[in-house]
Amino acid sequence: MNLVTYASPISLKPRQYALGLYLNTLSWENMLATRTGLLQVLGEQHAALFELLGRTSGRDVDKLAELAARGVPVTRRPADGIPLLDDSLGWMELRFASEPVNYGDHDVVICEVTDWHTPAAAGGGAAQALYTGRLRELGLIAIFFRTPLDFLFWFSCVESIAALFGLTGVFTAQPTLVTLFFG
Ligand SMILES: Cc1cc2nc3c(=O)[nH]c(=O)nc-3n(C[C@H](O)[C@H](O)[C@H](O)COP(=O)(O)O)c2cc1C
Repeated sequence: MNLVTYASPISLKPRQYALGLYLNTLSWENMLATRTGLLQVLGEQHAALFELLGRTSGRDVDKLAELAARGVPVTRRPADGIPLLDDSLGWMELRFASEPVNYGDHDVVICEVTDWHTPAAAGGGAAQALYTGRLRELGLIAIFFRTPLDFLFWFSCVESIAALFGLTGVFTAQPTLVTLFFG
């Protein structure tokens, strides 16, 4: 289970995502092995999980046990036992539609969205998505503008997710922070 920001919709028919998988993480290893993943959209209430999900490896820490210890509600899907945050803003199930291609310290893979769920679409409340901007406000991440490309990169992180609009209504909030679970 890890934090992901390199996740972008690239096609509506079929619904497809491009994911950047950081090399040698447990999530990278699991996803390459199962060729599936599950993206959850985080809300602002999840900012406290930044260190655990984004800077700690499941190789060193049992993240599910840690979530339980912190009182974060997680429920396993009855069908396959995949753990889901009870209060995520939605999730989508992904299946590899391409072979991963290496680009520097990330592998990029195209995935088909095979299923999804949004609490808002089901009549739930409208929680605020956790933007990378919020993480910056909290001092958890910093912007590095060393080259013009760096600016374009960060700008696109915030702006490009607007395309998620094509998926379901809840995603119009441009969530930029999601987490992966693996079956
Ligand atoms: C702000 C932020 C964004 C991240 N984005 C990605 C990403 O897009 N893809 C990825 O594979 N890892 C990303 N990571 C790194 C993983 O979340 C991190 O390496 C994690 O500790 C891996 O855990 P694991 O070994 O349990 O899979 C990001 C981390 C942070 C802090």
